[in-house]
Parts: sequence; structure tokens; C-alpha cells
Amino acid sequence: MYRTHTCGELRLENAGETISLSGWVQRSRDLGGMTFVDLRDRYGITQLVFNMEDNEELCRQARKLGREFVIQAHGSVAERSSKNPKLPSGDIEILVSELNLLKAAETPPFTIENESDGGDELRMQYRFLDLRRPVMRKNLELRHKMAQAIRKYFDSEGFLEIETPNLIKSTPEGARDFIVPSRMNEGQFYALPQSPQTFKQLLMVAGYDKYFQIVKCFRDEDLRADRQPEFTQIDCEMSFVERDDILNTFEGLTKHLFKEVLDVTIEGSFEKMPYDKAIEEYGSDKPDLRFGMKIKELSSIAKGKDFRVFDDAEYIGAISAEGCATYSRKDLDGLTDFITRPQIGAKGMIYAKYNEDGSFKSSVDKFFGAEDLKAWADETGAAPGDLILVLAGDRGSTLNALSELRLEMANRLGLRKKGEYKPLWIVDFPLLDWDEESQRFHAMHHPFTSPKLDDLDLFETDPGKVKANAYDLVINGVEIGGGSIRIHDEDLQKLMFKNLGFTEEEAEKQFGFLMSAFRYGAPPHGGIAFGFDRWVALFAGLDSIRDVIAFPKNNSGRDVMIDTPSEVSQEQLDELGLQKKK
Ligand code: AMO
Repeated sequence: MYRTHTCGELRLENAGETISLSGWVQRSRDLGGMTFVDLRDRYGITQLVFNMEDNEELCRQARKLGREFVIQAHGSVAERSSKNPKLPSGDIEILVSELNLLKAAETPPFTIENESDGGDELRMQYRFLDLRRPVMRKNLELRHKMAQAIRKYFDSEGFLEIETPNLIKSTPEGARDFIVPSRMNEGQFYALPQSPQTFKQLLMVAGYDKYFQIVKCFRDEDLRADRQPEFTQIDCEMSFVERDDILNTFEGLTKHLFKEVLDVTIEGSFEKMPYDKAIEEYGSDKPDLRFGMKIKELSSIAKGKDFRVFDDAEYIGAISAEGCATYSRKDLDGLTDFITRPQIGAKGMIYAKYNEDGSFKSSVDKFFGAEDLKAWADETGAAPGDLILVLAGDRGSTLNALSELRLEMANRLGLRKKGEYKPLWIVDFPLLDWDEESQRFHAMHHPFTSPKLDDLDLFETDPGKVKANAYDLVINGVEIGGGSIRIHDEDLQKLMFKNLGFTEEEAEKQFGFLMSAFRYGAPPHGGIAFGFDRWVALFAGLDSIRDVIAFPKNNSGRDVMIDTPSEVSQEQLDELGLQKKK
């Protein structure tokens, strides 16, 4: 028997017991005639003690142990004279009577502790070592706990977990597909699913009215902290439901997860904020509602004072940052640098300080007097001591820049508090999104999203104004999930494809299977998918989803541990009928 207990288990009440432990050597220290070894497994750390006087040979053996050696120790549990209150097992130690080396180890390239000295790339390369660190272990434990709580909720609500295939045809989620060549069908390719979207709709047609799946999805898109090329969705679909039935069901899931996993009670129902309002007041369709600092439009009051930047702008908007009127020149320059970075792309920033004594100082004093600036203050809700920050330009990009500025100011002011959660639904998205490059509309969610039925006439007159029966779940500025009521009528689906610029043949070729299924009795249905990795990262208080995925890819989409993507042999290419260009 390798072990009678784990390294996180033994307590004072076990004193005197004879036990066996197995694990990894975290560190060892020699103090005079004693050697102490911290033995670690995924449950914790227990101190082993070897005494030169009691057993010289054993103590010498212990002194040879290096970091990360795998050992087994037999001995008895004893109360520690100097207790370690930081460790749950810190009241006891093991007086070792027998030591077995199970496997020696090379010195690890970085320290296996919460604060590691290894850089990102090195830790990715030795992910199996990185995952030994307690912080990483906690993240994976949290992920497991959430997956269990999710399954429990769905099971209790009568949902069936059904798997869908990974070798499929292109799914229209808006990213590039990863494609897989077929050996048996030379010259033809599968696509990996960007989501199980079409399959879950087929399951509804098949009569499985409550479906869910915790499922891998694949998207070939540029990576960011909250995006991986393969990620996990909690994918869901329901039949015979309207929007609010769905929102209620998944509000239930959200509250259940908060309670079960974090012991946080979310009171009341979630706010439902129309997309247009979110953009107008927060500049974003994923607003962080842990703080106010709403964006206010100043276009009507700030134009006509001979200040060209404002007079030429389509839109002028501002936020007021509480208590920041004391900002120095350097602080303000720093903010300007932040907002004019290429990723954000504002042209510049105007400020107005509302001083404690009621006076104003702005970067545009030449054009705007105290009365004008007071009007800005009234509009933005600024009080003496506050700082008004103004951006101007075209509406879309200025609102986007204001949204970034709002988050930056909140970060500086410590308003994005960990442990505080503000979930909301964003509803009434536009159905279509105009793409300048291709000069055509794209589906903002995907082409199976139902328009709001009251808006159908707008297809003829102003398609960009048609609203979708779609919704996103946003928590603390993170888009956790999104979904919609679906089109279940083939005529409406055809109209949608037409507006998206598909010819009938193209639509038939790509989605004929779904249109055909709709002809055999499709129930009204709708659903949602949540980004599981994002949800775990949110609960863990982390910004990057990489830290909650056991084996993630780096920013170039590489797995540096197994060194892939990598070349394949000529033989494999020949079998697939493929030839490399270079
Ligand atoms: P959508 O494309 O909005 O909807 O995806 C749902 C959720 O998945 C997460 N997500 C990602 N997480 C990590 N890395 C990525 N690359 C990534 N892309 C998306 C987000 C997002 O909200 N089939 C529809 C759902 C539906 O209509 O039911 C869909 O996939 O949290």
C-alpha cells in the first residue's frame, strides 16, 4: 500500500498513529542533527522529520532527496513543537521510520510554489509541473466543482446531456473554421465545430426539448486573454419556449452556480438592458455595472463654440471621474497615451477639472468659459473635486473609446471590486451588422437567430434597424454567454439568408440539412451557450482563461509543451491527397 493517508489529511487527533504517505518533495532543510522534508500531493503538505541520533542511515538517505523526488514514507504522527498555523496539517509532523524512493527527479526549471519564478512560456512548456502549483490546482478544482454543479442543475430541471460530433460541416459563428482533411473522401474536408449550433437545433426537431452539453468548440481567431482556439461551452437549447422562459431558466442556473460554488446569493431578477441603451450609457454591449460613471453625450451643448474638434465631430461624449480633479499633468498625459493607443485609437482627450473651490480648469479654456464647463458638469453629474473627460469623433469609435476610458478610470479608482458580482442580460441586439469591407450585412449572432417579429417589415425598408430576439449574459464586464430564439420556419430562414447575401443555392448547399429538417415538424425553440472557461475565470477572480484550462495554447495558438502545430510526414500528406505549396 503506497499510502494510508494523503498529505493534507493528518491532524493532531491522529497523533501516535502509524501511517504511510506518498508524494513529491517540496523542499528539505537540514538543521543540525535533524532533516525536515515537506511532502506534497494535491491535498496538501505534511512535514516529515528525520533524526540523525535515532537513525543515521535514514537521515543520510533523506539528505539526498532533491526537489520533486517522488517518495514514500512510513512513520508515526507526532505533535509538532513549533506549529505552522499556515498549514492545515501544521500541528503535526511524521517521525519517519522507513523511506522509499519511488522516483528521482531532475531539478525543475522553476519553483513549484504559488509565486513561481518561471515565465509564462516556460511554465507552458512544463505545464505538468506548473499544474502542481497549488494556485493552478485550485483553479482546476474550481472548474470541476462548477461542472458538477452545472450538471446537477440541468439534471434537476429535466435536461438531457447529449454529445454532438466534432467532424462536421462549417458552422456560421463568424470566426474561421479549423478544417480536417478526409482520407476516405480525398479532396474533401470536415470542419471542427465553432459551436454545436445546428446540431442542437436538429435535436429540438428530433423532440429532445431540453438539451445541454459541456462541449469543446473550435475557432480560428486572433487570441486574447479571454479567447482560446479551443474552448468549452455550456451549450443549451429548449423547445416550446419564449425568450423570458429561457432567461428565467438560465438565471436559475446562474444563481445556482453562485450559491453552490461561491456561496454568494444574488437577489432579485437580473436587469434586462436593451443593446442601444448599453451602447449609449456604457459604450459597450458588456457593461461592468459594479460602478456608475455613465457616459453622457455632450454634442448638443458643446458644439458651436468655434472649437473645431467638437464642431466637426459626429459625437461628443464624456464621463466624470469622482475625486480626480487633483490629477497632475503627468496623470492626464498618461490617460491620453492610454486612450490614443492603436488598440483604442482615440485622436485625443479633453479634460475639465471641477475644482473643490467650485472653479474650473480645462484643456480648452480658450473656447469654453466657466458657464459652459458648469453645463458639462451638470450633464455628467460631476461635483466639485471631480474630473470630466471628453472624447469626440465618429459615434461608434468614440463610444468604444469612452467605454475603455471608463474601465481604466474604474481600475485606477478601485471600483471594480473582486467578490462583487453584477449580472445582467443585454437584450434586443441588432439582427444584422453592416460590413464595410464586403459591403453586405452579416448576422450579428448567427443566421438562425430570429428577428423580432414586429420588425419584419423593416427588412424591406431598413434592414439594419431590425432587432434580433437575442440576448447575452454579462457579469462584471465579461460576456459570459449569448443566445437567441431561433427561426423555425423555412420561409423566414430563406428571407434571412437572402438578407445576408446568400443565393438560394449557397444557402441550400451549406444549410440544406437544417432547412430540410424544418420541413418535418420543427418546434419553436431557442437557447444559449455560455463560455465555461470565462465563467470559471470570473469565479476564480482571474483575467486570463488560460489559467483555468489544464492545457491551453499560447498567444500564437501553439501548444509549446507538445510542440504543435507541427509538420506531418510526406506519407500522411500523400494519403490525404494533399500537397504543400512551400
Ligand atoms: P457565441 O459565439 O456568443 O454563441 O459563444 C457563446 C459564448 O462562448 C464564449 N466564447 C469563447 N470563449 C473562449 N474563447 C473563445 N474563442 C470564445 N468564443 C466564444 C463566450 C460567448 O458568450 N451558438 C451560439 C450560442 C447560441 O446561440 O445558443 C454561440 O456559440 O463566453
